[in-house]
This record gives sequence, C-alpha cells and structure tokens, in this order.
Amino acid sequence: MLAPDATPRVGVVVDVWQTDPEGRYKHPRDRGQDRLMEEFLYYGEAVTDDAGAFGFRTYVPGSYRARPVPHIHYKVWSDGEELLTSQVYFAGLGDAARQARSREAAALQTTNLTPAGEGRLNAEIDIVL
Ligand SMILES: [Fe+2]
Repeated sequence: MLAPDATPRVGVVVDVWQTDPEGRYKHPRDRGQDRLMEEFLYYGEAVTDDAGAFGFRTYVPGSYRARPVPHIHYKVWSDGEELLTSQVYFAGLGDAARQARSREAAALQTTNLTPAGEGRLNAEIDIVL
C-alpha cells in the first residue's frame, strides 16, 4: 500500500472478509451455516510492513445469488480511522463490471490469479491512499 507520493503506508490495517468456495459467508443470516468450512475463518486482518506490503492466505471465493461475481471485501484502517471500503475481483471469474460502479472501477478492482506452485494461486493488488 502506497501513499500518492509512492511512499509506503506502514502499519495500516487491512481487514478482509469473503465467502468460502461455495459462496457462503460466516454470518447468521447467510444460508448454509451448518455447512461452513471448519478450517476457514472467513475473515482476517493484516498490517502493512515497512514496504507497505500485506498478505493473506485464503481460498478463492465462490459466488452467491445477490453478487454472482466472486470477490473479497476489504477495509483499510489507519489509527482507528476507516480509510477505504472496497473489494477485489479476479480476472476470469465473472464480469466485475456487472458488480462495480463502473467499468473503470471494475478494472481498478480486478486482479489476476496466477499459478504459484503446489496447486496454489497468487493475486496481488495495489492500493494507493
Ligand atoms: Fe460479498
């Protein structure tokens, strides 16, 4: 995560939440709460390091009826102040433009899933605040 002048944003909290691969949230009002994945938290939090980097290890999210394009929600916090709420979409997993505010927003919010070995995928996003 970088500031507009390209300096790293250090110590910023990134809070994520998402569905499991079957499109279920861990939320009392979502369907299928009796079929949640035991090993999966469905949410997480990371803090940016000295380079502004942060990371999560997770599953590729599924889709659900209201939002059929898989995505991961996130909020960015600094000193307890919420700076941004957004989501990440993945190229090849639906048309993000159907969900985003505009085609331009969808392009900014979409990243690639690239093979990372051992059946894993990697995705990177750049956040400038
Ligand atoms: Fe969602």
